[in-house]
Amino acid sequence: MVDQAKLSNQPKETPWIEKAGSLVTSVNQRKKNTMSTNWTTANIPSQKGKIIIVTGANSGLGFGTTRELARKGGKVIMAVRSLDRGASAKEDIEKEIPSAQLELMELDLASLESVKSFASDFSQKYDRLDILINNAGLMMPEERQETEDGFEKQIGVNHLGHFALTNQLLPMLNETEDSRVVTISSMYGKTGYASINWDDLHWEEEYDTTDAYSQSKFANQLFGLELARKLEEAGSGTISTMAHPGYTATNLQRHIGLMGKIGNKLIAQDLDMGILPQLRAATDPDVENGEYLGPKGFMNMRGYPQTEEPNKKAKEPELSEKFWKLSEELTDTNFPL
Ligand SMILES: NC(=O)c1ccc[n+]([C@@H]2O[C@H](COP(=O)([O-])OP(=O)(O)OC[C@H]3O[C@@H](n4cnc5c(N)ncnc54)[C@H](OP(=O)(O)O)[C@@H]3O)[C@@H](O)[C@H]2O)c1
Repeated sequence: MVDQAKLSNQPKETPWIEKAGSLVTSVNQRKKNTMSTNWTTANIPSQKGKIIIVTGANSGLGFGTTRELARKGGKVIMAVRSLDRGASAKEDIEKEIPSAQLELMELDLASLESVKSFASDFSQKYDRLDILINNAGLMMPEERQETEDGFEKQIGVNHLGHFALTNQLLPMLNETEDSRVVTISSMYGKTGYASINWDDLHWEEEYDTTDAYSQSKFANQLFGLELARKLEEAGSGTISTMAHPGYTATNLQRHIGLMGKIGNKLIAQDLDMGILPQLRAATDPDVENGEYLGPKGFMNMRGYPQTEEPNKKAKEPELSEKFWKLSEELTDTNFPL
């Protein structure tokens, strides 16, 4: 990095050797920037020997993420709520990548019981967990729906299910060197409602499906940042990173009907671009604890991944701590380290 403070203190006549030095530094800096601007799947290091969980691995971003991590030699546990849909996705990846190491496991994030049995089955089968990708989600169902535990479904699946899952897998993540938790948020976590409806978290009084989605995606950022703080305080080697895919054409937009279909055709980027922020958050060795990645291009909706500022409200430790406590109470799980 060019040290700006040092530069401003330089005498007017800079010795030639320093001039040459700073030229090399700035060329290197430019090279690094270009490289990071164009981060692609080619930048993913080998994942051989790694055990990776991807939630919602049968569709959209979860499917693409699973495929690329398997291509790099990782063993991916496809955590899916429908084993049939999971089996068909697994077959598609195996056709393309015959060497893919994939395992299907049932996980319904709309049921704390299912989360608990998934975590317990996984812990009995495996003794390491390198990457947990909290990817699954639903967006804007027209009618208000509830999870098995009575949570409004978007906060229940997108946040509370993943919150419980992560807490239950953290002991194993903590014992695995260089492990990561990656949480998928959205532009809706930063725009629109993007806050916590403290008086009515489950939208029982008045339901607005867009606000409920926005709350759940803001919750993903509060969670990812608070987890990063907690891991650091605990002196853990595990890090928490976050990503969003901009606007990517997947099955997510199915509840938005015609608008979703038109948007997917005209504005959205394709899956191969949409998966890059979460793949980078999961595998780039230079990504740090608490970092948030999203597309660099037009209105952060498309393009190659770069570091992005999360919602500044999500960075308020008092708020994220308060929300963490509420999530602990609701899921009957806690930070185990
Ligand atoms: N696509 C975008 O433009 C966009 C933008 C911002 C953020 N995101 C986020 O990206 C993530 C992935 O979405 P996507 O676009 O890939 O959508 P998608 O194609 O609809 O995939 C969503 C995945 O989540 C799974 N899922 C839903 N409810 C579940 C539950 N109760 N338990 C377990 N899994 C469940 C789905 O399973 P089924 O197939 O069985 O339903 C599916 O595998 C979501 O968190 C979403 O909020 C997407």
